[in-house]
Amino acid sequence: MTPRTRHSTFARFVALSTFGFVFFGLFTLTFAPRTSVRRDLRRFFQGTQTEFDVKRSILLNTKAENIRENSLKYTAEPHLAGTNKELAEWTRDQLQSFGWDAGIEEYEVYLNYPLDHALNLVDDNGKVIYEASLEEDVLKEDPTTGLRDRVPTFHGYSANGNVTAQFVYANYGEKGDYDLILEKTGDPDFFKGKIVITRYGGIFRGLKVKFAQDLGAKGVVIYSDPGDDSGITPENGYKTYPKGPARNPSSVQRGSVQFLSLGPGDPTTPGYPSKGAVERQDPSKYIPSIPSLPVSYRDILPILKELNGRGETFDGFEGGLEGVDYSIGPSKTSLNLYNSQDYKITPIYNVIASLTGSTYQNEAIVVGNHRDAWIAGGAADPNSGSAVLLELARVLGVLSKAGWTPTRTLTLASWDAEEYGLVGSTEWGEDHSKYISDNVLAYVNLDVAVSGSKFHSAGSPVLSALQRAVAKEIPHPSDNNTSLYDVWKKDSRAYIGNLGSGSDYTVFLDHLGVPSIDVGFSGGKGDPVYQYHSNYDSFHWMDNFVENAWEYHAAISKYVTLFAVSLSEREVVAFNVKEYALTLSKFLKAIQRKYVGASGHLSGLETESNEQKVLEKDNSGFDTSTAPWAESFDDVLKTAKEFVETAHKYDEYTSELQKDIIKDWPWYKYYKKLALLARIRVANRKLFHLEKLFLSSNGLQGREWFKHIVYAPGRYTGYAGEVFPGIVEALEDGDYENAIKWLSITKASLKSAKGLLK
Ligand SMILES: *[C@@H]1O[C@H](CO)[C@@H](O)[C@H](O)[C@H]1NC(C)=O
Ligand SMILES: *[C@@H]1O[C@H](CO)[C@@H](O)[C@H](O)[C@H]1NC(C)=O
Ligand SMILES: *[C@@H]1O[C@H](CO)[C@@H](O)[C@H](O)[C@H]1NC(C)=O
Ligand SMILES: [Zn+2]
Repeated sequence: MTPRTRHSTFARFVALSTFGFVFFGLFTLTFAPRTSVRRDLRRFFQGTQTEFDVKRSILLNTKAENIRENSLKYTAEPHLAGTNKELAEWTRDQLQSFGWDAGIEEYEVYLNYPLDHALNLVDDNGKVIYEASLEEDVLKEDPTTGLRDRVPTFHGYSANGNVTAQFVYANYGEKGDYDLILEKTGDPDFFKGKIVITRYGGIFRGLKVKFAQDLGAKGVVIYSDPGDDSGITPENGYKTYPKGPARNPSSVQRGSVQFLSLGPGDPTTPGYPSKGAVERQDPSKYIPSIPSLPVSYRDILPILKELNGRGETFDGFEGGLEGVDYSIGPSKTSLNLYNSQDYKITPIYNVIASLTGSTYQNEAIVVGNHRDAWIAGGAADPNSGSAVLLELARVLGVLSKAGWTPTRTLTLASWDAEEYGLVGSTEWGEDHSKYISDNVLAYVNLDVAVSGSKFHSAGSPVLSALQRAVAKEIPHPSDNNTSLYDVWKKDSRAYIGNLGSGSDYTVFLDHLGVPSIDVGFSGGKGDPVYQYHSNYDSFHWMDNFVENAWEYHAAISKYVTLFAVSLSEREVVAFNVKEYALTLSKFLKAIQRKYVGASGHLSGLETESNEQKVLEKDNSGFDTSTAPWAESFDDVLKTAKEFVETAHKYDEYTSELQKDIIKDWPWYKYYKKLALLARIRVANRKLFHLEKLFLSSNGLQGREWFKHIVYAPGRYTGYAGEVFPGIVEALEDGDYENAIKWLSITKASLKSAKGLLK
């Protein structure tokens, strides 16, 4: 054969086979099945399980008995902040064994540990006439109460001191209580040089101490009054723990007295992480300089009796102690309060674990819960949360080992030192602020997951619709035929509260603008008294008085797992922006109603001193009927209304996108699929950024760490959420210029939000 013919044979072969390939290709493509973007994505990332499979597996595999086992482990030994590194390591090892990528992140923070204390009644001659035990009873029924290395009763961040002084009673120690006493006694020095006794309740305990300190008090004693136990008292025939559900008379609430509403975290490193040789600052802005002690009602009884008939008493000041008339004093006898604390810079241990997402890695969902406790037990706080977090990790780990990869990255955090002032989460948030701002879509918080039978929830309104949807999928532990949502709706119309502070979501929402939720079951009507932060928050108490079956734990575990997975698996981020816009609008209208009458007159001011300021301004020629803040307010409301309309349309748009995801397309419309994927990317990024438009870089006045202009702890409450604190505080103070400033900041945020979603 000549080379030529050989060549032409070869050419014919090439031509034929090319034709064959093209024909085969065309044939296949023509009859190729139409597929949806959702299916393409799953194939591309080699997922085999559908969202339905995953959810079913979560509901079926979450086991109450595993959670009970976890709780047994966590409640068996003391794990005060910065101690028991072994428990952090155990947690890390568990997470690793479930298939998570887990490690420990340490910070060096300022903490105190108790050395010694005393509280004595002293007569005129300096003779001690009564010595408070400052101890909780050891109960033979409850082994946790008798541990040799159990944690003494004390306050986190309380000052050292040994003070002797006359004492007074100031009810709950709220701002309003102190103001009332000053006003009614007409004595601005009423608290000066005294030891102040307050009962627990109402506001964060650190602020009770702060207000006393600001008024010149020398020390503070805070006790638990049975009058605040919702009628579950011996007086009403209930036996006390361990014989019954009422509070044990020796029960003491430990806790932090940090000035939480000024800023959480390590008080020596406000706004930056406590790592290495970092610069430390004077912590006195954030923690008390006067000593304080927590005590039981049994210990306080003889002390309060000393006040009977001395000084006035006011409506709402009476508690439930027999033989006490709750007079404010001052006493004739004195109290000696001695508090000795070992302050040091010491390591704390956050355990962080991740399952890396397949598709949207820069939209991580973080689920966190603290691990440290004031007591060895802490079956409710925080170990109901810790036990649930591990079960969540196990259930998702089983899925992961079966080949499932979450669409978005899932991260778990077991925080340390929450109890002292959200220290572990705050330092982590400050350390990774850039990562979190760019990559964390939402934060889910567990703390006290179960302390009773009533479901409660709080969170950013963008997540409310998803919260309700998920609650509909969870059977209620009391009755498998009804959903968690049904009971929630019956109890409280499925109310979702505002996040203030008091747990680890604070750095995420208030500082970094990450939409967050906080959920759990707490005490409802008739539930046993929750002996919060006392030795009686033990495994024995949980197992015998709160829940035998551990089904409430299982329900919250399913809820949180399903919530995180629903958020991670839905292609279009499951945020509802109209609910956000409507909620802000409602808040603003409520503030306007409270402070600005229709004519622009300020109304609803609560204290005389504010009234006084209003009058002073008026006298200086300020005309309230044409007050500029009233006009600014109308303006803000108008913008808020426009935001609601835009948000409404945006929700319609994103639900269209989500529908298109499951639409089947022929292959040659691949460009439509690509366009859809691109539109989803953009929509998700916008949803990601929305809440961050409500951060103000300068922060709130006098507490700059708090950046969110909508959500912050109340400056006078600490726990409870205050909405639009900038506007509200300015109006409370009668500071009109400031009110106008905050109204204009608010308007700018609403406008950017509207612009983002346009
Ligand atoms: C505290 O002060 C009291 C009264 O002044 C005194 O009796 C007591 O010894 C002091 N305690 C300590 C540990 O210094
Ligand atoms: C609900 O169903 C679960 C699992 O099927 C079962 O273990 C539990 O006892 C049931 N609870 C009630 C109150 O029926
Ligand atoms: C739940 O529903 C089933 C079927 O409707 C019924 O047989 C059962 O008694 C119900 N259980 C409860 C606790 O209401
Ligand atoms: Zn807690």
